This record gives sequence, structure tokens and C-alpha cells, in this order.
Amino acid sequence: MSLLTINKLTASVGAEVRDVDPDRLAADGGLGAAVLQALEDNGVLVFRGLRIDPAAQVAFCRQLGDIDHSADGHHPVAGIYPVTLDTAKNSAAAYLRATFVWHIDGCTPLGDECPQKATVLSAVRPAERGGETEFASAYAAYDALSDDEKLRLGSLRVVHSLEASQRRVTPDPAPEELARWRSRPTREHPLVWNHRSGRKSLVLGASADYVVGMDRDAGRALLAELLDRATAAGKVYSHSWTAGDTVIWDNRGVLHRAAPYAADSPREMLRTTVLGDEPIR
Ligand code: OGA
Ligand code: MN
Repeated sequence: MSLLTINKLTASVGAEVRDVDPDRLAADGGLGAAVLQALEDNGVLVFRGLRIDPAAQVAFCRQLGDIDHSADGHHPVAGIYPVTLDTAKNSAAAYLRATFVWHIDGCTPLGDECPQKATVLSAVRPAERGGETEFASAYAAYDALSDDEKLRLGSLRVVHSLEASQRRVTPDPAPEELARWRSRPTREHPLVWNHRSGRKSLVLGASADYVVGMDRDAGRALLAELLDRATAAGKVYSHSWTAGDTVIWDNRGVLHRAAPYAADSPREMLRTTVLGDEPIR
């Protein structure tokens, strides 16, 4: 029997986990394996009103894998990164505006890192209006293709770039800004990710710029159409935040975005990222 009480939130993505508290999550040898399995099965796990403190959040995440420390220094607890548009709390806040567009984290790493395995977000302060986080399954997106599409799309490769992500929210960058974006290497990924588990998912979202060997406009139209289908209203779980909620997503098989919220909103989320160990192939 599973150690967790789980209720599905939609047919394709998201489940609520009941009956856990921060002590149970942070205890060594506790629920890590069960949470990873539930994440594989549901894509997104919601812990309403968990009220886990930052240090306990990091301790819990260690049971899921190695923690990303590359963005440390914005918060006193190592392994915690504040997600907020408030530049007083995060000096890199401007880049976070790209979170308003559907994406998969980590498709354009600096080195040869794999996309993150899982991301944990806890709400310190939700937005007054908007600011829900929306999720759609990239596995379900693949599964819903016709047999003909599965065949046709299975061999396509897509170039991802930071520039593509950023242009969607900043279409007319200053030359210095553009140069900063372009200093990040672009990455070519297959459109269809063949996972070690045997499952397949579509690698789509803000960073996906163009399809290799295809007319630019036609390739972009294809990527946009696939993204629209993957994120159609009936396929999305939208999390409306209350302070103290914690949500985890499987970044390998889930697309996500923030619903719009005001640029001067006090919205603040604390993120911990679990590093991935599975290349996109
Ligand atoms: C992220 C992200 C969405 C949100 O932290 O990677 O996309 O709702 N966040 O803040
Ligand atoms: Mn993100």
C-alpha cells in the first residue's frame, strides 16, 4: 500500500496529497521514494497548507535527489531561491517574466546539465489577483498524437535558446540585453523525449525556437500548434495559491507557466530545484 493518500485533480495531470506534515516529509528514510513515484504517476503534487519552513523544504528535497545550488545567495537558506518580480528580493527578477509563457525548466543549460528532475514551490505570499501556476502533461501531449503524427514527429529536432524564451516577453531588447541572451549556448533537442522509463513526452515551450531542417515559419507554426493542443483548457491543472501551499512538479514530463500577475505584486514563492540526471534523447 502507498504511504501517501492521493486524490487526482484532473484526468491527465495533478494530484493532491493529504495526511502529510512537514515533520513526516523531512524525516530521513521517510517519504522520498513514495513522493517520487507519485510524481511520476501524476506529474504534479499539491500539498495544501503544508507550511513547511525553508530549511525543512531543502531537507525534504534532498530525499528526491541532489539539490541545485547554482542560484544560491538570494535567500539566507542554501537551496532556496525566491521567485518574485520584486527586485528587492531577487535581483534577477526581470528574467522571471518569461515564467508567464508555457515552458520546461532547464532546456538551455550553461553546460551539459540535464533538465531538472523536480521543482518544489512554496507560497510565502500569493498574488492578490492572478498568479496561479498552471500545469499540463507533456506525456499526455505525446500520447494524444495520432499514430501518423507519432511517426512523423519522432525524428524531428528542435533548437532551444534563452533568446527565444526572453523574446516572448521582451520582443525588442536593447543590444546589450540581446548580447547577454546570446552568450548562453543554444541547445538542440529531439521533439520527442524517449525516457528511461519507456514513456515518451513532447519537449515544447518558450525555449523551443525552430525545427531543424524545416522552413522557419512552418516549424514555428507546428511547435505553436502542438503547444496549443498540449495546453488546451481541459488538459490543464491551475493551482490557486494560498500562503503555506507547496507544489512539486516533474519538470521532465510537465509544462508549466505562471498566470499573469501585477509587476508590483508582493507575490513571493520559495523554490527548491532537484537536479536531473536524464538527458533529453
Ligand atoms: C519556476 C516557474 C512559475 C510560478 O519557478 O520555474 O516557472 O508560478 N514558476 O511562479
Ligand atoms: Mn519555470
